[in-house]
Amino acid sequence: MGSKTGVERFSISAPPDLVKEFDSAIRSLNQDRSKAIQQSMRLFLSEHNWTRGGGECAGAIVLVYDHSVHEVGEELTDIQHESRAVINSVLHIHVDDKNCLEIIAVRGGVDGLKALIDQLTACRGVKVLKHTIIGI
Ligand code: NI
Repeated sequence: MGSKTGVERFSISAPPDLVKEFDSAIRSLNQDRSKAIQQSMRLFLSEHNWTRGGGECAGAIVLVYDHSVHEVGEELTDIQHESRAVINSVLHIHVDDKNCLEIIAVRGGVDGLKALIDQLTACRGVKVLKHTIIGI
């Protein structure tokens, strides 16, 4: 379906509520659907490309957790000790009475970093986890 103009057209299916919210967001940002979808595709690729190279990677994992959840702090510390080979540094911020934010600087192979992210994500009490990792 390639065309002479250098763009490819395709159709996608999505739940109506998601489309409505998406259209409302792009209107407020003065964008159009095509540009916003392209941006979303690039974000998706940057989020997943590092896992495909198989080489050395580096980046940051940011997570927010509720430290009042039983033993979550100890569990996170145990996981980080086990993965110390790929962790360069950790910044801990006490956000409010309940919540802590940690920025974990990482460098290592894809498998080690994926395992670390999976373990942290599975930890009860972790509310948000995002990462930015690139192949180096
Ligand atoms: Ni804290």
